[in-house]
Amino acid sequence: MSEPDLYLLGRAGPEEERLKRQIANLAPDSDQQLERVGIRPGERVIDLGCGPGGVLHLLGKRVGPTGSVLGIERDSHFVELARRFVASHALPQVEVREGDAYATGLPRRSFDGAHMRLVLVNVPRPELIVLEMVSLVKPGGWIASFEADFLAHICDPPLPAWDRLLAAYIAYSAARGIDLHIGRRVHRLFRQAGVEAISVDAVAHVYPPGHDRRPILRDFINNVRDGLIGEGFIDRDDLDDDLMALDRHLADPSVLVTSHLFFRLTGRVPETLVMKA
Ligand SMILES: C[S@@+](CC[C@H](N)C(=O)[O-])C[C@H]1O[C@@H](n2cnc3c(N)ncnc32)[C@H](O)[C@@H]1O
Repeated sequence: MSEPDLYLLGRAGPEEERLKRQIANLAPDSDQQLERVGIRPGERVIDLGCGPGGVLHLLGKRVGPTGSVLGIERDSHFVELARRFVASHALPQVEVREGDAYATGLPRRSFDGAHMRLVLVNVPRPELIVLEMVSLVKPGGWIASFEADFLAHICDPPLPAWDRLLAAYIAYSAARGIDLHIGRRVHRLFRQAGVEAISVDAVAHVYPPGHDRRPILRDFINNVRDGLIGEGFIDRDDLDDDLMALDRHLADPSVLVTSHLFFRLTGRVPETLVMKA
């Protein structure tokens, strides 16, 4: 079954640029996770929702020239960018295809492992994507998930404008069935899908002045600005005033800004897959 393409952040120019920066921003955290997975040269692995590149280069290096990586991405422009990205890394073992993570149409139980990063926090039916992901992996194969939870995303000193913008963004997402605190419950989705030997850790960062993720709340708000105003989640003038106050706050080097909490999950697909109720 395919779901409508409800993707929270849109795919306009600024979001494209943000996702390109994200490749480098999150590479150390992802590579650390992939190291723990124990990927072997020669494996055949898949990355769902790879965006303009995601971790394709990290997976490609780990499976090596005798392995293969398949990146699946719903947006055709991102597919093109991801293809250019892997070409620039000279990784012929990595292929990118346009496809839907809800229903890939790929053979069941055909991959040694499956990875997904920051897709579930942007879609309304995450449990269906998890089921599809798990069904693609061979018995004994690995699962790796990296998902955000807005729990840790704070500034200090606090700022009322931050709180109002974040509350509007959370409400806007919830109205679309999207859970910005999904990170903490991703382990349940994989358990329900039958995954075993689940291990989870979490990482968070402080974004100092000049860090390109320090203004991520502003970037997200700008991505969905028209919807926030049009659907009455915030008044246009209030939004503009709050964004100005936010920018001033972020420019102050004495203000502390923390990242989302990133939950990193690994697990194994058992010989016999039993979905839990
Ligand atoms: C926040 S981005 C993350 C990109 C990449 N995984 C990374 O971590 O840098 C989420 C990506 O998932 C893609 N996406 C969303 N829903 C999808 C679906 N149903 N099938 C395939 N890709 C999807 C979006 O187009 C977007 O490129």
